[in-house]
Amino acid sequence: MAFPSHRPRRLRQSAAMRRLVAETRLHPADLILPVFVREGISEPVAITSMPGVVQHTQDTLRRAASEAVELGVGGIMLFGIPEKRDAMGSASLDPEGVLNRGIRAVKSEVGSDIVVMSDLCLDEFTDHGHCGVLTADGAVDNDATLEIYGQMGVAQAEAGADMVGPSGMMDGQVAVIRQAMDDAGRQDTAILAYAAKYSSAFYGPFREAVDSQLTGDRKTYQMDPANRREALLEVSLDLDEGADLVMVKPAMSYLDILRDVAESAFERGVPVSAYQISGEYAMIEAAAANGWIDRDAAVAESVLSIRRAGADTVLTYWAAELARWIKEGRF
Ligand code: PBG
Repeated sequence: MAFPSHRPRRLRQSAAMRRLVAETRLHPADLILPVFVREGISEPVAITSMPGVVQHTQDTLRRAASEAVELGVGGIMLFGIPEKRDAMGSASLDPEGVLNRGIRAVKSEVGSDIVVMSDLCLDEFTDHGHCGVLTADGAVDNDATLEIYGQMGVAQAEAGADMVGPSGMMDGQVAVIRQAMDDAGRQDTAILAYAAKYSSAFYGPFREAVDSQLTGDRKTYQMDPANRREALLEVSLDLDEGADLVMVKPAMSYLDILRDVAESAFERGVPVSAYQISGEYAMIEAAAANGWIDRDAAVAESVLSIRRAGADTVLTYWAAELARWIKEGRF
């Protein structure tokens, strides 16, 4: 009888054996929790398409941030939902605007125990829902938007953000934000560039989460899902412009891109992040609610796969829950 000469199953025979040889691990410090804070509400508001995720009040936002710290979560990324929107997104620059207030509240709650990050984009603040301001004929005006982004960077840094996350996909945004923050004496505020951000159908639930006013799409500024090489161009431009970290978004339908970006980021010596977005969250929650998949195992596997593909850190709406499971030794 011919025996197999190789028996990979030897290393799979017990949980202890598998744990010893696991190539990728989940750790709370590698997770970043995205959170929403909404102006003008006195109780948190549930987001129907993202079961378990809410729009926070300033108060519950503070509590969510300190819970994340207790669980050892690495970062927290803030999104703001203002009461009033206008064509220029002016609430984004107001130090008393919902996002800037939220950053201050979180920073005063957590100090330097977690990295405080803020979304730097206009779509939550404009009444038309685009990530930039518009020209007279309704196109998104790249360079006029850059000026506002620069000011947003300064406002968020002054509110206490450790790291800003430009997510609008305007050309030149990282350079302008870096310059504006440097000129304001904010050299130490880092930039997490949403470098390869695709125009994705999986953002659907996020639009509910921020009460988006968008009609139409973002195809003139976000990347075409058909393109792979272009992601490397975006990453290299953002790094040349001064990005400290680069991100791929969405994550699960873009693991090939994440792998490419991780390799090029390795050559450039920078960390890579990936954003497991609202639609990815919603799909798993919906399948689990129907009893079609094992929820906790699917959540852990999905985040593990994003880490395995090359992300050093993962933005995920499950960050706090997953951190708890990891602490309990479940994953
Ligand atoms: C733009 C922004 C979006 C998301 C993060 N930042 C929305 C968009 O590009 O349409 C989506 C995140 C998610 O879907 O979870 N401010």
